[in-house]
Amino acid sequence: MSAPKKLFVKTYGCQMNVYDSERMAGALGAAGYEETQDQAEADMILLNTCHIREKAAEKVYSELGRLRPLKDANPDLKIGVAGCVAQAEGEEIMRRQPLVDLVVGPQAYHRLPAMEAKVRNGEKALDTDFPEEDKFDHLPRGPKMRRAPAAFLTVQEGCDKFCAFCVVPYTRGAEVSRPAERLLAEARDLVERGVVEITLLGQNVNAYHGDGPDGVWSLARLVRELAQIDGLERIRYTTSHPNDMTDDLIAAHGEEAKLMPYLHLPVQAGSDAVLKGMNRKHTAEEYLRLIERIRAARPDIAMSGDFIVGFPGESDADFEATLELCREVRYASAFSFKYSPRPGTPAAGRDFVSDDVASERLARLQALLTEHQRDFQQAQVGRTLPVLIEKPGREPGQMVGKSPYLHAVHLDAPDSIGRVLDVEIVASNPNSLAGRLRS
Ligand code: 5AD
Ligand code: SF4
Repeated sequence: MSAPKKLFVKTYGCQMNVYDSERMAGALGAAGYEETQDQAEADMILLNTCHIREKAAEKVYSELGRLRPLKDANPDLKIGVAGCVAQAEGEEIMRRQPLVDLVVGPQAYHRLPAMEAKVRNGEKALDTDFPEEDKFDHLPRGPKMRRAPAAFLTVQEGCDKFCAFCVVPYTRGAEVSRPAERLLAEARDLVERGVVEITLLGQNVNAYHGDGPDGVWSLARLVRELAQIDGLERIRYTTSHPNDMTDDLIAAHGEEAKLMPYLHLPVQAGSDAVLKGMNRKHTAEEYLRLIERIRAARPDIAMSGDFIVGFPGESDADFEATLELCREVRYASAFSFKYSPRPGTPAAGRDFVSDDVASERLARLQALLTEHQRDFQQAQVGRTLPVLIEKPGREPGQMVGKSPYLHAVHLDAPDSIGRVLDVEIVASNPNSLAGRLRS
């Protein structure tokens, strides 16, 4: 048998790409590849890319430029671009950067082994189709290795919402849900490998509507069934659209102890005029009332969100409305971005706010969100939280775990990886909490 070839995968963007990268490595594993963390020894480098904002897309081209010396040193090195830039730009990538051998869109990953064979023959390979078959059915999982305690599981891909700023409906296509029984089987397999926390992923995960044995399952049903799996202790899901928060899903937050009290529910803006321009299909008030209902079902739930500032037409008053909404919700954590026009999206042609104004708004919004985030973190001090111990810390015996609210928690707890322990939070540091085991 020949020595395994080496694969180096670099992942950009969202958690769905993290999951996809794992599955691509599995598919190429079946074609004789072993993963490496050192790109200098790689026979194949795959960049799994993100197209959500201009900066993310441009990063790919600068990274490709940096790979030139490696390709000069090893002419057999093959370079591939996967993910949303691959989908959006296709052949253009090979034109702009001739050292790229392979371009594969997110729906065609199961065809990677055949594409790899082609590039080994010295040809170029491009596939940005949206095939009918479920790519995950055809992507091998790799050997039954022990896994880290927390894993991602993609349950749904694509989006039919068409927010006016967003490329996702174009790069990932229409909403497709994976069949429920396959997801349950995959979840059981993860648990057998040592996983205790699963985050269900989808661009619009709460729109999940997969075929089940007795009809179509909603996300709430899927969560309830997953919660029956012994050994699976925590369930999360992301990312959700407010309009798909059904009564059943809200109720599940109150009833399923395994469902973590943390919800990423982006609103993007706090002004109705901007929400309308964004085609979000709900008002600020409707969003706030929704959060009230979620909090009524699960009083200790923490909210997280995404915001865009400088969207075309955003006035000072509109921006103030965003700040006001944040003051009302008090997010435990939030991401905020300057609007970035994306080719082919409805908002791309509109006049946008000047970069100076957008930068100033972003700084103000981030200052407010950071203050709320710090307050929330500080409020954990003195509480006892169930913490999932995930990996060793820097000092011997020290561990790093995860709170229900996704905080990193540092503590002394030898030999405890994969366990959920009661931890008293003793301090709040800039990016983490410190805790000690409750005896
Ligand atoms: N410009 C800026 N931010 C964007 N997002 C999506 N598209 C754009 C864009 N064109 C943000 C949204 C989304 C998050 C994943 O990225 O806030 O929720
Ligand atoms: Fe993009 Fe999310 Fe809107 Fe879908 S719901 S178009 S993924 S921002």
